[in-house]
Amino acid sequence: MIIAPSLLAANYARLGKDTERISRSGADWLHLDIMDGHFVPNLSFGPSVVKTLRPLTKLFFDVHLMCARPEILLEPFCEAGADQITVHVELGEPVVTQLLWKIKSLGLKAGLAVNPPTAIALMQPHLEQLDLLLVMTVNPGFGGQSFIHETLPKIQQAAEWRRTRQLGYRIEVDGGINPATAAECASAGADTFVSGTALLSRPNLAAAVRRMRQAALKARGDQLPGRRVIPELNMV
Ligand code: DX5
Ligand code: ZN
Repeated sequence: MIIAPSLLAANYARLGKDTERISRSGADWLHLDIMDGHFVPNLSFGPSVVKTLRPLTKLFFDVHLMCARPEILLEPFCEAGADQITVHVELGEPVVTQLLWKIKSLGLKAGLAVNPPTAIALMQPHLEQLDLLLVMTVNPGFGGQSFIHETLPKIQQAAEWRRTRQLGYRIEVDGGINPATAAECASAGADTFVSGTALLSRPNLAAAVRRMRQAALKARGDQLPGRRVIPELNMV
C-alpha cells in the first residue's frame, strides 16, 4: 500500500516546510498536482517549484499532469526531479500513446488517469505501457471535494484486467480519499492512495498516514482470496 499525500492541500507560503513535514510522516510518495487553467479550471505550480522541493526529500515524486498540452512539460518535469508522470486518457489518440512512450524514454515511470465521466474502456489499449493506472474519484481541479462512489467499479475493472493479463501496474485513487473511502477503494483493488485535505489538515500527519494505511490494509485483508468484491463489472 502506497500513501501519497498531495501537496495541493499544503500552505503555499511554506511549500518547503510542508514537503519536509510529509517526508517525515512515513508517507511513501509525494503527489504533485499540476493544473494549467485549461484542462481543469484551476492553476497550481510548475516545474521550477518542483525543482526547489527536490533537494528537501527522498520521497518518490508522483507528478499528476492535469494539462491540455503535457508534451511541453515532460522534459521540464523530468529535469525537475519527477520519478513518475501521469497524463490523462481524455487527451485522446494518438496523443496518449505518444506521451506514454515519451515519458518512458525519459527513464520515468508512466501513469494514465481517467476522469469520473470517462469510460474506463479507453484505458484498455494502453494497459501494457502503464506503471500506474489512476482512477480519479472526483472531477479534477480542486482539493476538498467529496468522493464519487460510482467510480468504484472502474477500480474493480482495472484490478480485473491486471489479474487476467498478468500486468504489474499500480492502481491509484485520487480525490476525496480519507480512511473510510481508502478502505472502499482497497476492497475494490486499489493499492495507491492520494490524499490532500484528509491528511494535511491533521495536526499529527504521521498518525493520519498510519490510520489511512491501516484502513486500506484491513480492507484488503478482509477480502477472501480470489473473491470478486462486486460481481457485476460495470464498464463506466
Ligand atoms: C484533484 C487532484 C487531487 C487533489 C486531491 O484535482 O488531482 O490530487 O489534491 O485532494 P483531496 O484529497 O483534498 O480530495
Ligand atoms: Zn492528483
